[in-house]
Amino acid sequence: MKVVSVVGARPQFIKAAPLCRALRSHHEEVLVHSGQHYDHEMSDVFFEELGIPAPDHNLAVGSGRHGRQTGEMLGMLEDLLIELKPDVVVVYGDTNTTLAAALAAAKLHVPVAHVEAGLRSFDRTMPEEVNRVLTDHVSDVLLCPTDTAVRHLAAEGITEGVYQVGDIMLDTARLFAEARDPAVVLGAMGLEPGGYLLATVHRAATSDSPERLGSVVKAFLELERPVVWAVHPRTRKNLESFGLVESLDGSSAVRLVQPLPYTDTIALLRGSAGLLTDSGGMQKEAYFFGVPCVTLRDETEWTETVELGWNVLVGTDEQKIVKAASLMSRPDHRPDVYGEGHTADAIVSVLEQRYEN
Ligand code: UD1
Repeated sequence: MKVVSVVGARPQFIKAAPLCRALRSHHEEVLVHSGQHYDHEMSDVFFEELGIPAPDHNLAVGSGRHGRQTGEMLGMLEDLLIELKPDVVVVYGDTNTTLAAALAAAKLHVPVAHVEAGLRSFDRTMPEEVNRVLTDHVSDVLLCPTDTAVRHLAAEGITEGVYQVGDIMLDTARLFAEARDPAVVLGAMGLEPGGYLLATVHRAATSDSPERLGSVVKAFLELERPVVWAVHPRTRKNLESFGLVESLDGSSAVRLVQPLPYTDTIALLRGSAGLLTDSGGMQKEAYFFGVPCVTLRDETEWTETVELGWNVLVGTDEQKIVKAASLMSRPDHRPDVYGEGHTADAIVSVLEQRYEN
């Protein structure tokens, strides 16, 4: 079986790591990097630490407005798929790279397998929601992480080619989380276990609005525990251009750090008293490791984490963030709603059943 896998942004490298490994033990995989993320600490570092093979092709699309970025990738991916003639194209998640690759393949009648199918925030102003809905509707194989995702697809009339395979990010956690000793990572940063909160912010709705980002910054400065904030490049640019960075420079309440490698992020997460985030994937990672989460959004795709009491949705309201952070707790019950970390093997079996020979 010949598989073309398309990645381009940080969360996709993290999801691809276990599947690349599983696929390459028996099949031919061609890895394509769109170049949507290009900074060393947003891209190369994950290939190195997670042992992902170097991409066979890098489209170097770079940053741009959504239509142009997606369109440029679409054209380049079409040329490449015509040349490579794969049996199936694998796409991950909900980025502009995901949509471009799924559309390029579907138009050429090349089967599309979507890892992390069926997720919905029901907020169409979110670029990721548009990407995931459209990708699901042109996919042939819908690899859902949860029962909730399967139900979302059924509600949109998609019932063929749907498989509940569990969450691939749990495979990554199982395979790589132990690679770094949390004590070493915390020690190097002068942090005490449980003595700080970890934060990440990068969604357009939060980081592109001076009011909302300003409200988040104010809340972080008021919290009882210090915040270690791993700043996405987009958010750093906006903190600077909105004049918010001055209030954080030299602050003992908030410490800004560069985007971190995966294993350092997980070590810091495990050592933290809690997570503050607008990331999708990190809400789940907090759940995997039993760390309470406050989500800086009004909705989530990972509703199980909220229903089970491990995650609270507060949006970007300053007072709500402060209150939720002070009330963080660890419920007794943490069932395996995301599977057991063997999703990559399950995906390979599904693809073999459908596309071998
Ligand atoms: C993208 C995805 C989002 C995913 C996130 C993970 C879309 C619509 N969004 O958001 O679903 O959760 O990646 O990080 O595809 N930039 C850099 N260096 C980089 C990458 C980006 O400086 O290596 C800056 C650029 O100014 C760029 C901005 O960040 O314009 C946004 O980058 P982009 O790739 O469009 O989206 P993300 O915000 O990273």
